[in-house]
Amino acid sequence: MPAPETIPTVLPTWVLLTQDIAYLVAAVLFIFGIKQLSSPRTARRGNTTAAVGMLIAIVATLYVQNYLSLVWIAIALVIGSAVGAVLAIRIQMTAMPQLVALFNGFGGLASVLVVGSEYLRRSDDINLPITVDQGLTMGLSVLVGTVTFTGSMVAYGKLQGLIAGRPRQWSGQLVGNALMTLVSVAASIWIAVDVDAGWTLLVIALLGSILGVTLTIAIGGADMPVMVALLNSYSGIAACATGFILDPPNKALIVSGALVGASGIILTSIMCKAMNRSLANVLFGGVGTDDSTGAAGPRGDDRPVRTVDAEELALMLDGVRKVVIVPGYGMAVAQAQHAVRDLFNLLRGRETEVYFGIHPVAGRMPGHMNVLLAEVDIPYDRLLDLDACNPEFETAEMAIVLGANDVVNPAARHDKSSPIYGMPILDVDKAQTVIVCKRSLAAGYAGVENELFVAPNTLMYFGDAKKSMGELCKALGELN
Ligand code: TAP
Repeated sequence: MPAPETIPTVLPTWVLLTQDIAYLVAAVLFIFGIKQLSSPRTARRGNTTAAVGMLIAIVATLYVQNYLSLVWIAIALVIGSAVGAVLAIRIQMTAMPQLVALFNGFGGLASVLVVGSEYLRRSDDINLPITVDQGLTMGLSVLVGTVTFTGSMVAYGKLQGLIAGRPRQWSGQLVGNALMTLVSVAASIWIAVDVDAGWTLLVIALLGSILGVTLTIAIGGADMPVMVALLNSYSGIAACATGFILDPPNKALIVSGALVGASGIILTSIMCKAMNRSLANVLFGGVGTDDSTGAAGPRGDDRPVRTVDAEELALMLDGVRKVVIVPGYGMAVAQAQHAVRDLFNLLRGRETEVYFGIHPVAGRMPGHMNVLLAEVDIPYDRLLDLDACNPEFETAEMAIVLGANDVVNPAARHDKSSPIYGMPILDVDKAQTVIVCKRSLAAGYAGVENELFVAPNTLMYFGDAKKSMGELCKALGELN
């Protein structure tokens, strides 16, 4: 069936009713999907639930409203699914924030293109006048959409190492950003009162594109996941605004955009809170160097660093009743989760109680550790969040810190001069013995030294996380 050449503007009642029911079903699926995403046990199902909702919404818009034939929808679905499948299969877990950044960027760009085509369609049709509020919404949608697009591209470039990760700030940057925002808002008001002034949309698109770059380039590479969550929220806001300016307004776009906008901002706030930083500090603070690791270990502290090797550690683990493993960014980089699962199984075989302490900002993206541990089938009831895990350290004979650093740094509790002071941490130092497995004494993302490495109850187990866990499993297996 060929695609219709013109888009009908007055739709029969049955079409609108069918569409409304489909949109309602889609909205319910989106909400259930988000609810399921809130637990690692149901997160995969949540993804599928929300994706089915989006499929229903797309078909209800394009087919029921007669924009596209089923054949064209099927062709687009096959192409889109193929691209998505290749990306999903090939992407490394550590590169997930980049992928999300790309998705957000394309979401923002899609909103801008839809606004552009709707403006052209309606400026040619006297039966479809653009009202003042719609003109204003068009301007704002283009602004937010272009900021999202170019901001996400810069975020992608920084995370992927294509652009230097250090924050770039210059004098007058804030004033320049504020001016560009003000001019864009003024241009949105202009088009609202003079709908023939289509050129103002181009001005807004240009300023929004520059603003996206200047806002994002000022943020350090390692803070980029927070920016990605914020840009995710922006892409939702742009989609929601775009839903309002379509004729008829697209309820699925409005609902899904509002959900993305709200959940993105909630996620941003959770991440800031877990790092004990304000959003303003992330956006304008210029924190961080290039990326993950700073240079030095604990300076000015002459307590000796004590080390342990795989055989000694295996002997220490023999007979231990309770162990808490705290994974961090290093486990993700080393892809050590499979070796960790082997250790978990060996310890359980010896009737050792094993828990995993999951810090909300361990790694480089929300839920990073949960995803990696779920991938290797660690039972969900073994994963404890910060509040549930901290009391366990008091009674644990051993805490094994695997490629984590900032999230276990006791300075966050007492050193007011530390940049991470106030950040809630996993209290591994309260365990009888702490094993820290990493390659060196180097600092973590925040670039601060860690006094845990020289604490009297700490032993450093130096090496790559995957290799070290493999050697430990071998040594533990040989004890039997
Ligand atoms: P970090 O503090 O970044 O420390 C990771 C440690 O892993 C490094 O000190 C590094 O030490 C070690 N490492 C790197 N490669 C390794 C390998 N192959 N094998 C073993 N160890 C390796 O990590 P964390 O404790 O997970 O804390 C996360 C940090 O990221 C926090 O400061 C958080 O605020 C920040 N952050 C997180 C997010 C989210 S949403 N998760 C977003 C933005 C910022 P060596 O070089 O000595 O091995």
